[in-house]
This record gives sequence, structure tokens and C-alpha cells, in this order.
Amino acid sequence: MLIMKRTEIKLLFAESVEQLIGSDVVVKGWVRTKRGNKNVAFIALNDGSTINNIQVVVDLANFDEGLLRRVTTGACICVEGQLVKSQGAGQSVEIQAKNIVLYGEADPDSYPLQKKGHSMEFLREIGHLRPRTNTFGAVCRIRHHMAYAIHTFFHERGFFYFHTPLITASDCEGAGEMFQVTTLDMKNPPRLEDGSIDYSQDFFGKQTALTVSGQLEGELGATALGKIYTFGPTFRAENSNTPRHLAEFWMIEPEMAFYDIDDLTALEEEFIKYCVTWALDHCQDDLQFLNNMIDKGLLERLKSVVSTDFVRLPYTEGIRILEEAVKNGHKFEFPVYWGVDLASEHERYLVEEHFKKPVIMIDYPKEIKAFYMKQNDDGKTVQGTDVLFPQIGEIIGGSVREENYDKLMNSITERNIPMKDMWWYLDTRRYGTCPHAGFGLGFERLMLFVTGMANIRDVIPFPRTPKTAEF
Ligand code: 4AD
Ligand code: MG
Repeated sequence: MLIMKRTEIKLLFAESVEQLIGSDVVVKGWVRTKRGNKNVAFIALNDGSTINNIQVVVDLANFDEGLLRRVTTGACICVEGQLVKSQGAGQSVEIQAKNIVLYGEADPDSYPLQKKGHSMEFLREIGHLRPRTNTFGAVCRIRHHMAYAIHTFFHERGFFYFHTPLITASDCEGAGEMFQVTTLDMKNPPRLEDGSIDYSQDFFGKQTALTVSGQLEGELGATALGKIYTFGPTFRAENSNTPRHLAEFWMIEPEMAFYDIDDLTALEEEFIKYCVTWALDHCQDDLQFLNNMIDKGLLERLKSVVSTDFVRLPYTEGIRILEEAVKNGHKFEFPVYWGVDLASEHERYLVEEHFKKPVIMIDYPKEIKAFYMKQNDDGKTVQGTDVLFPQIGEIIGGSVREENYDKLMNSITERNIPMKDMWWYLDTRRYGTCPHAGFGLGFERLMLFVTGMANIRDVIPFPRTPKTAEF
């Protein structure tokens, strides 16, 4: 027995299953539930290839009682049997078991994933097992599809996947929120005469950290290859305990030579719509499950985003709308005035209450944005863009880059950014400088939107947040 090839359970839910009905199949997976009576047992088996479980019907007369007793929720088994049309409601085919091999038991007294009803918080504590739940299985499969969609989107449009370093000496966003990378002895680091740490003796001969963004190196790629994108892990040591921040997240950063602000916002909109459409086309079962179990408005929201035009909203106009709201009695926790870095309550008001659709905000005050953004002629604003989404807030941050050497230098000096590690970046403006633009999409923010999950810790397999780095 069991020399037959394994069939993935996904195939048993495809239309082509008709051809298999009546023949013997082999499936392998983990038991979700077992129920039945004294004559027959019904095992719901899942192998991760799909959210759907195949029902295995076991005629108890033909099986060793001791073996079946050990086939409990969480156990891993191999089943050989005939695929038949199902008599029961809820599934179209089922397997009449002929042989069962028990690969691994899961002691019911200690296996933590019993039937259902576990809170998201509890599941985070058993992050090593949560991919075996329906919800996280669905999230993980969608995550895969989104990554694949992203590579496909850029590849189809002639972008090159450009690998930027994870260890770096420059702080792209200038927020000083970097995780230091060092091999120095923490207890007794070498010191200079003035008492400060002598990083020349560190591994790289200078102070280094994990990257907060691949953008600066991405610009080097774009000003040579034309259009590039990065897709990799990003690290921020910001002490933000919110449902939308991770200390380790994945970011997609396209960077394009010769793009102006209109080209940039058009690409941002097209890109998100492409990803959402991909999910609707390729992840139907998982999205339907999440729509039923997690967020009843999910499918409707996804469909509405792909068919709606995103608003282009200058910051100044956004402030005017918010001030108007305040005048009409709307209460915000934080004040609204020109120059303020908008709080998420402000962004959500604009997106969810005023426009009721995604908003791409442009032309921000230069003081609240990073040093590299292209300065507008008004001397006050820069060509930065944030894409604001319902329930998520900022999903994309991007800008046209300042390509003028002198203006860029002014901005660097104004912000007291240390120059000595930036010479290579400035060279792009000294030699063959060109107009260019780019943006960064937070992969987990996109995942939040596409899955309807409420907390960013639940859309990445192993979240890293302040005080947690388990698994
Ligand atoms: O707006 P940010 O900081 O922009 C940049 O890093 C630019 N260098 C990107 C570029 O132009 N190439 O970050 C970009 C996006 C945000 O819009 C958000 O979606 C996500 O990255 N993000 C985070 N996601 C999860 N956890 C965090 N702590 C995040 N910080 C930013
Ligand atoms: Mg931002």
C-alpha cells in the first residue's frame, strides 16, 4: 500500500476533480476534527494547500480501534481511499478510507489548538502553531500571493528587482530609529580619548545599523537602470505599540528615473489596484473565509477600491477641509493647523468620512518630510505623497526626489544630517543628475487591507514589536 502519489487536497476542490471520482487517492495532512458514532468516524483533514478540509469517512469495522483513538485533532496522518461523491451536505467529494498511517500524534491534553474560539492574543503566544489555524493559513497563503503579484507587476512593466543592503551606515528617513549592528564587546567597548566609543575597531570599521529603507541605494539603481524596485525586510526601532507598526516589516520600494509627481501617483494607484485585483482573482476561498469570519465588509471593500478613482489632495486643501470640520463641531483629539504632521484621526476623517475613498495627499510642508523630497517653487512645500487608506491610514509614502545638488545640500544642512557617509548619494546629483521619483509600500499594511485583519501582528508569521521577539 501507499506507493501511490499524494494528491494535494486543493485539487479535490477543483473542477477537474470529476476525473478522479471513483478512483483511489492518497492524501496527507493534519486532523482538524474527528466526529462520528460507533460505526463510522468522519475526519476533517487539512494539508495547508487550501482552506478547505477533505472529509475522510472511516468505517470502524475495518480499522484498529487503538489506531483510531490516537487520530485526534492536530495529529498528522496519511490516508489512502476511494474518492466518492459525498452524501452529506457541505462537501461535494469525500474519501472512503482503506488505509490510514499515523505519522504523528498530538496529545489532546496538551495540544493547544483544540476546536475553535481562540483569541488573536492567545494565538500570538503560540505563534509556532498558529499557521495551522484556518485564519492564519488563509493569511499566509494570501501573503504568498501578494508577494508573487508584486514581483509580477513590476516585472511586467520592465522594472528590475534591485537588492539593497540590510546593513547600512545611513539613516534614510533621518528619524534616528535604527537598530545598531556591532560585534564590539558591549561590556567593554574600545574608547577614544574623549570617552566615546571607537567604532573604527568595530566589524565594519564604522558605526552601522539595520536599514530603515532601501531608498537611497534604490536611487543609485534607478539612475542607472531606469526603473527598479526593492522588496525586503526593513527595521525600525520606534517604540510604537500600535496595531499598524512593526519593528521588522517588509517594504516594496520602486524608484523611477524621469517620473514626475503625476507619473508617481498614477503608479501608486495602479500598483495597489493590481494587488487587490490579484487577491480577488487568486484567493477567493481564503477571502471568502475571512469575509465570513473576520470582517463582513471585506469583499465589498476590496471590490470598491479597485473600481474607484483615488483622490489627489494637496495638503493645504486637506487642512482646509479639516478646519471646516472643526468649525462644524467635529472633535479631534489633536489640533489642526497648516504645518501639522497629520494624526491618524485626521487622515481617517478625510478618507472614511469626507471622501469615502482612498486619498493620495501631495505637497506637504517641507518641515514634516524627509530631506530628499523635491522642493516646490513656493519655498514651503515638497513633492511628497502619502496614500491614505480606509481603516489603515498611511499605506504608501513616497516623493519626487530633489535632483538639484544645491537644493539637496541646503536641505541636508538645514537638518544637520552628517555628510560624511552621504558622499555617494550626493554623487548622483553631481554626475548626470535626473528627475526621478519613488515610493515605499508597507507590505503588512497592504496585508491588513487585503485580509481585513485588525492587527499588523496577525498578518506576518512572526511579528517583532517592542518587547517581543519570540520564535
Ligand atoms: O513613509 P515611510 O517612512 O517612507 C520611506 O521609508 C521612504 N524611504 C519610502 C520611499 O519613498 N522609497 O515608509 C513607507 C511605508 C509607510 O507608508 C508604511 O506603509 C510602511 O512603510 N511603514 C511601516 N509598516 C509597518 N511598521 C512600521 N513601523 C512602518 N513604518 C513605515
Ligand atoms: Mg511615511
